Amino acid sequence: MNVPSGVLALRAKQQEGPLARVRLWDGSTPWLVTRYAEQRALLADPRVSADISRPGYPSSAPVNGSSTVSFILMDDPEHARLRRMVTAPFAIKRVEALRPAVQKIVDELIDDMLAGPKPVDLVEAFALPVPSLVICELLGVPYSDHDFFQDNSKTIIKRDASPEQRMAALGHLAGYLDNLLDEKLASPGDDMLSRLTERIKTGELSRREAAQMGVLLLIAGHETTANMIALGTLALLENPDQLALLRDTDDEKLVVSAVEELLRYLHITHNGRRRVALEDIEIAGQLIRAGEGLIMANDIGNRDPDAFPDPDRLDIRRDARHHVAFGFGVHQCLGQPLARLELQIVYSTLYRRIPTLRLATDLEQIPFKHDGSVYGVYELPVTWWLFPRTADRQRPRQPRGSHESDHRPGQVRRFRTVRGRRRGRVRSARRGRHRRAAQPRPAGGAGRRRPARGGGLPGAGHPHRGVTSGPIQS
Ligand code: HEM
Repeated sequence: MNVPSGVLALRAKQQEGPLARVRLWDGSTPWLVTRYAEQRALLADPRVSADISRPGYPSSAPVNGSSTVSFILMDDPEHARLRRMVTAPFAIKRVEALRPAVQKIVDELIDDMLAGPKPVDLVEAFALPVPSLVICELLGVPYSDHDFFQDNSKTIIKRDASPEQRMAALGHLAGYLDNLLDEKLASPGDDMLSRLTERIKTGELSRREAAQMGVLLLIAGHETTANMIALGTLALLENPDQLALLRDTDDEKLVVSAVEELLRYLHITHNGRRRVALEDIEIAGQLIRAGEGLIMANDIGNRDPDAFPDPDRLDIRRDARHHVAFGFGVHQCLGQPLARLELQIVYSTLYRRIPTLRLATDLEQIPFKHDGSVYGVYELPVTWWLFPRTADRQRPRQPRGSHESDHRPGQVRRFRTVRGRRRGRVRSARRGRHRRAAQPRPAGGAGRRRPARGGGLPGAGHPHRGVTSGPIQS
């Protein structure tokens, strides 16, 4: 597969040195940090700030100061105080206990796909529902409201949304979460929002903080993983040797390493980690002055040959665990154990259950997400033919943690099934409509508008949203 020209230009810059000045949409010229080692050093440095409201912060689009989405754009100690309150459900052991339930969701969605008409849009039928169903269950958000929260999430992460549109979408989601907090206060359940209401009662957390945290977790919990599922599938279909390795393996370690390699190779959060220097910092012989912006281009960092030999090759057998697809430092992704679990289950189930899965259109016809801060595809039309490969007929396999083989009542968090959810959909959809009526959708919101088709795979082809001119000399 060809490496896109944008990547080649940035890789050339990377070879010249670890830092380069770039010009942003507003004329500012922050530093683009291109190399893996310097990116990690700066992301772990307490002298850099993630606070979007500080002067010099290199935002990718016009910002309204009050549009902060919770602790992801805050510094310690406030960041640590809030993050600590939602850390426990994402601990590896707690997440691992969800494996059978997530496997069940994945299996049922595949059953539905197989029973339905072809071709099918994998994004709509599978990639979006898997993480949305999981995060809804964890948070205690009704899945029947998914159109509402998915549309508003899209507006928030859309680069060309106006500050007003972004603020409106944030307001709708915050209002929606606030209503849910009311419901949880009145009648708590076994979910994260209910646990946040306990902290509201003790005065540890304000209503506004709890609602903003809910917005962050809801957006981060579905949008990123959904893009990894669809884009990862496309990358594998374009690399059939790697797909065959993954599909035919019984080795769980290979599945784990495939997930890490796809995270490295695709690096969907292609806007870079944005920060501003609080003090003068010297790094790699260069002085970064206090108040200067920094964009850690983690996608190019994940292709730094010093960290990953032959970086443009997708090789699911390589050890890619040290990638920076989840960032690095205090803001490193909170949900990474959950994302990993979901991707391991999806990648080890989908291609095995549908071994003849293939694109139902040309690669050039796929609409890529050039306009958002998370890269991916808007649609992925796929089809398959029905007869199984001989090998599959002879060697049926229960994926690890499958609900048919490993279900351990009592130990497993009881997620309602996808079908159960659909049966309950009319009633809760009505409830959702009431909420939406109270917080009308933003005019000109993201909706289902599709951008121009065609683009690049892997995601690093469109690395730095908001960098309007290429790298310039410092
Ligand atoms: C493949 C899927 C995912 C990718 C690639 C991803 C990527 C990232 C990255 C790069 C960051 C760091 C942002 C920064 O340093 O500025 C981050 C932070 C975060 N992610 Fe994820 N993420 C994924 C899935 C999830 C999931 C499933 C959740 C669950 C709710 C989640 C919740 C968060 C939160 C809360 C933060 C903020 C952490 C902090 O500021 O302390 N993410 N993610």
